[in-house]
Amino acid sequence: MTSFPVSENVSKMKTSSTFKAMQAAANLREQGFDVIDLTVGEPDFPTPDFIKELAIEGLHKNITKYTPSAGMKPFTEAVGHFYAAQFGAEVAPSEVVAACGGKQALFNAACTLLNPGDECLIPKPYWVSFPEMVTFTGATPVFIETEETDFILSAEQVAAAITDRTKLIIINSPSNPSGCVIPAAEMRKIIEVCAARGVYVLTDECYLFFVYPPAEVFTAAVLPKELRDYVCIAGSFSKTYAMTGWRIGYTIARPEWSKEMTKLQSHSATHPTSFVQYACARAMERREESMNAVGAMLAEYRRRRDWLIPELNKIEGFKCAMPEGAFYAFLDVRGLLGDRFKVSADVAEYLLTEAQTVATDGAAFGAEGFLRLSYATSMENLHTAIARMKKLFNSQTAAV
Ligand SMILES: Cc1ncc(COP(=O)(O)O)c(C=O)c1O
Repeated sequence: MTSFPVSENVSKMKTSSTFKAMQAAANLREQGFDVIDLTVGEPDFPTPDFIKELAIEGLHKNITKYTPSAGMKPFTEAVGHFYAAQFGAEVAPSEVVAACGGKQALFNAACTLLNPGDECLIPKPYWVSFPEMVTFTGATPVFIETEETDFILSAEQVAAAITDRTKLIIINSPSNPSGCVIPAAEMRKIIEVCAARGVYVLTDECYLFFVYPPAEVFTAAVLPKELRDYVCIAGSFSKTYAMTGWRIGYTIARPEWSKEMTKLQSHSATHPTSFVQYACARAMERREESMNAVGAMLAEYRRRRDWLIPELNKIEGFKCAMPEGAFYAFLDVRGLLGDRFKVSADVAEYLLTEAQTVATDGAAFGAEGFLRLSYATSMENLHTAIARMKKLFNSQTAAV
């Protein structure tokens, strides 16, 4: 058979390495191994019951037909009401476009702005899909190193990276994979620097609700209009309400940008599922109930984080900062590199084969020397993983 003549735009994209790691875990499990999978990028909680019931209610109300491409009015209005009540932000329905998850929200934003020849800034470490989305548009990803500021992007770093060709920067705070949170004041400065130079900001706020105090939640929706004109927020229900499979998210951007994203979406996915929009709209209206559900998940992530990070730091060659948001530990394994392990992928491979513990190599996120461990898994799994890793790496096996 002749090879498939894949388009140039798609051939330049790489398969998601996080999915590859998940696949490696699934393969081992199929072979009968007792695998601890720390690659998971989704909550291990079920969707809250009241949201499931709202979706059923939507079905019974026959909300099963096409909606406007930007989303049904109750949805776009509910986003506005929610942001007003939760953050004191003014968001008009004309600024909201419902999308099939944060991923499509980001894709809509990147594809409606970037042209071949444009540069798009992406701070390292980055979520795997950012460079691929940019490459797809023909624009060039330009990476910003942030290690010297402990992976927290600064306005100074952004200012130094902007060129005449810079059109966009993609920021993700709280960050997947680092768990870092950019402080509100710095975020504002970054957006001011960008707006002053005519650079747009795509801010991925998919983990907005998973910030551990004293770190503070910050949404760019609260910024004044002159800054908001340059900003597109990508939001998602996937992590917030443990709804990854439902495929719903949204963008918040000025009406002109939203109109272009709606046009693009009208020729692709059309819109996210009608009764899912209904369920999310109603869930946002029941803000207290929704935020209680989110709070319970955050408390459990925190409990795991507070146990896991000190335990990781007890393992020889491991160094792990306390994540301030999301549900990932970003583990520095450079202390192990040398003759035995050349790169962090070798450490990941060793963990996989010797401890049946699967982690994602940091190189996938532009951070060679690191591993990403998700704690969106049970305490029991985390205990087992730590015990196995201690056994492998500590010269004197510590009791756990
Ligand atoms: C940083 C980040 N952005 C966006 C997404 C997309 O999520 P979804 O499309 O499920 O909303 C993810 C999912 O893992 C993510 O980690």
